[in-house]
Amino acid sequence: MGFLNVLHIKLRQQTVVKLQACIRLLKKLEDICLSSPLQPAQSNLYEGKVILAPMVKLGRLPMRLLALKYGADLVYTDEIFSQQLKHCTRTKDDRLGLVNFTCGDFHLFQTCAAERKKVILQMGTNDPDEALEAAKLVQNDVLGIDVNFGCPTPNAELSQTGAFLLNRPDLVVQILRKLVNNLSVPVTCKIRVLPDIKETLELVRRIESTGVSALGVHGRLRVERRNVAVRVNEIKAITEAVSIPVIANGGSLEYINTFDDIIHFREKTNSLSVMVAQSAIKNTSVFRKNGVLPIHKVIQDYVTLAMQYEYSLICLTHELQEIIARNFKPKYIPPTYENLHRCETYAELRCCRYSKLLQLDEITPKPILEEQKPVDENYIAMNLPFKRGNYTIKSNSPKSILMTWAMQNKQPNPKFEIIRHNMIGRYTCKIHFDGKIYHAVTSQRDKRLAEHASCVVCLRHLGLPDGKKSQEDSSYPHESLGNYRRAEM
Ligand code: FNR
Repeated sequence: MGFLNVLHIKLRQQTVVKLQACIRLLKKLEDICLSSPLQPAQSNLYEGKVILAPMVKLGRLPMRLLALKYGADLVYTDEIFSQQLKHCTRTKDDRLGLVNFTCGDFHLFQTCAAERKKVILQMGTNDPDEALEAAKLVQNDVLGIDVNFGCPTPNAELSQTGAFLLNRPDLVVQILRKLVNNLSVPVTCKIRVLPDIKETLELVRRIESTGVSALGVHGRLRVERRNVAVRVNEIKAITEAVSIPVIANGGSLEYINTFDDIIHFREKTNSLSVMVAQSAIKNTSVFRKNGVLPIHKVIQDYVTLAMQYEYSLICLTHELQEIIARNFKPKYIPPTYENLHRCETYAELRCCRYSKLLQLDEITPKPILEEQKPVDENYIAMNLPFKRGNYTIKSNSPKSILMTWAMQNKQPNPKFEIIRHNMIGRYTCKIHFDGKIYHAVTSQRDKRLAEHASCVVCLRHLGLPDGKKSQEDSSYPHESLGNYRRAEM
């Protein structure tokens, strides 16, 4: 009786094991059969690349552009949730050359021509349909879409996204397959490793079968934090198990301080590409083949790029603090640290006491990117570095000369339109006069100077003296600047 029972149980166990093996095989077959990508995987785009890793609240436009400037081949955005992204509105800002995806009044994703073929948008999601809806909205503005299956934070646990999907491989496969089969851009994903290497390899093979173009691997478990050594051998095993490019990640703290270190990490992990996060926050010039730059220079380049695109100052100050925390010992950080957040304009940022530490006062504000304006012969603009000392502002000022001339010639009064450039805290002025618009595009520190500068543009265009003090030489160069003229004063 006892013997028969044991035999019965053993037979049942064997049947269950066989059935489980059959189910696994069927799943693999299903993965292969159901994959009919819109286009073949574009794995070559991800081969031999040095990449800025996705970083929430950091991997935004200025840092991505900075990484590209220093030599990164590709850049990932911070993780953006499909739930929010799908509600975004896409708008173009021709003045700054930006494409904005805006949710409420917040730019969830900003991009520009300089990163068009190099930016990969990383999405957080747990819903295949929602992921597709969101990805379709941005696919024409990015090189590719990445899905984050690596985030271990409590927020990811709450929303059941990121690394919390790694033990739901069927859903991982469904999401990736949906995107691969319906998007016209390559799809990738980023994972962490699982406690059991066999399970990890099974997972990555299933991921590969969806048709993704590459696989990012952060060589740590979901429960491991950055102080735990990166699992180089696990990354290596994954590179041997799949034929798509593996992007190795997790080496910043132990291995990566320079570009050469990135290459060593690539070799050590036997991978085709590497993505870098924390070392890039510490010093983004880690991507430079010719060696890292001093941190002050990097911060100057960073703030200059942010100013050029009038990037949100709130976001910038947060990012600066992250950079500072990784570079300066607390005792060197002045007590005015918090002041950074009180700055409301870039001008204030450049003047605050804190900026001494960062040498921000040495930054020269860039002229506004007016060159991108469409050709219009009624729009006369000049790039005038207007110097107040060269003019009499109280009497015989450019503005009073223009007003008097208009009155004497029975012309309607010029209309002054002041433009405040919020991010740099400076002004320009457009003058509407005689059916034309006159604009001195170099910004001025106050409204009055901006008006005078634009009056000079108008007076010069009309061939009238503009009130310059030492006008022994009343001629000035009219250098052509495409649709408008540039004159140096
Ligand atoms: C991250 N990481 C991360 N990963 C991801 O897939 N999406 C994300 O949005 C973020 N956000 C993020 C923010 C910050 C501040 C840090 C430090 C990290 C993880 C990151 O991409 C990378 O996987 C790890 O930092 C390990 O790589 P490094 O730092 O060793 O190069």
